[in-house]
Amino acid sequence: MTNAISSLELDQVSIWLGGKQILSEVSFAIAPGEFTGLIGTNGAGKTTVFRAILGQIRPSGGKVIIAGRDRSKGDTSVGYVPQKVQIDPDVPLRARDLVALGLDGRTLGLSKRSVADKELIEETLVAVGAETIANRRVGTLSGGELQRVLIGHAIISRPQILLLDEPLANLDIKSEHEIVDLLSTITTDQNLSILISAHDMNSLLPFMDRVIYLAGGRCASGTAEQVIRTEVLSELYGFRVSVIHVDGRVVILADPPPMQAKNKVT
Ligand SMILES: Nc1ncnc2c1ncn2[C@@H]1O[C@H](COP(=O)(O)OP(=O)(O)OP(=O)(O)O)[C@@H](O)[C@H]1O
Ligand SMILES: [Mg+2]
Repeated sequence: MTNAISSLELDQVSIWLGGKQILSEVSFAIAPGEFTGLIGTNGAGKTTVFRAILGQIRPSGGKVIIAGRDRSKGDTSVGYVPQKVQIDPDVPLRARDLVALGLDGRTLGLSKRSVADKELIEETLVAVGAETIANRRVGTLSGGELQRVLIGHAIISRPQILLLDEPLANLDIKSEHEIVDLLSTITTDQNLSILISAHDMNSLLPFMDRVIYLAGGRCASGTAEQVIRTEVLSELYGFRVSVIHVDGRVVILADPPPMQAKNKVT
């Protein structure tokens, strides 16, 4: 890292849940404007990292620092797209309403919208490519459409950091590419730092400035070339894995396989 203040830093963060250590002295830093992937298998602790950044879990050790300030010492602006969002089609909430709710922060109840707010809502719908679905009920949207609206909800308050928990899960390849393209454009246009979790890093590879790879409660952080290597990941997993490149895709295999049939780890 340079001497510039990181937009987000985890300094030796340890977290225990249900009597089990989930994160063990996890440290990484993200620079302003960086597009960062948080990669790890199911249960590696990706959502736990997000919950710590959001202040929903207090680490048993270490610190979360946002824009140079200790997370625990004040309000910070972090946009968040959670992993599981399910809204019944009967709920009378339009896509435009959900984007608009992102302006309300922690206030309860409906706010009266100023003209400037109304303009910002329309601008945000356009920025995420959701203007044509603005009047649809959120519960009737496809997975890709819902992600666009959730991203609009998260960025309308102009956070400096945007966290997205597995936004590509359950999307087909075309929608995956559209969402990653959209996020890459938003990062540049709004100088946002993006931290996006995934268990399969392949769709993110061309876009990631930085990879944070989680395994065994620890992490390795750096460029994809630095981190996605047989030696680095074997050390992290605590057993030998092989990083294999096939047709521009990366596959990580346990080596030797712990089970005959199922040795793919990501
Ligand atoms: N409140 C809790 N109490 C006990 N254990 C928990 C709790 N929350 C999470 N865990 C455990 O912590 C580990 C990490 O969970 P987490 O949800 O962070 O993983 P993840 O990487 O997001 O997984 P996925 O890819 O499946 O979403 C898992 O073993 C999970 O069972
Ligand atoms: Mg998760």
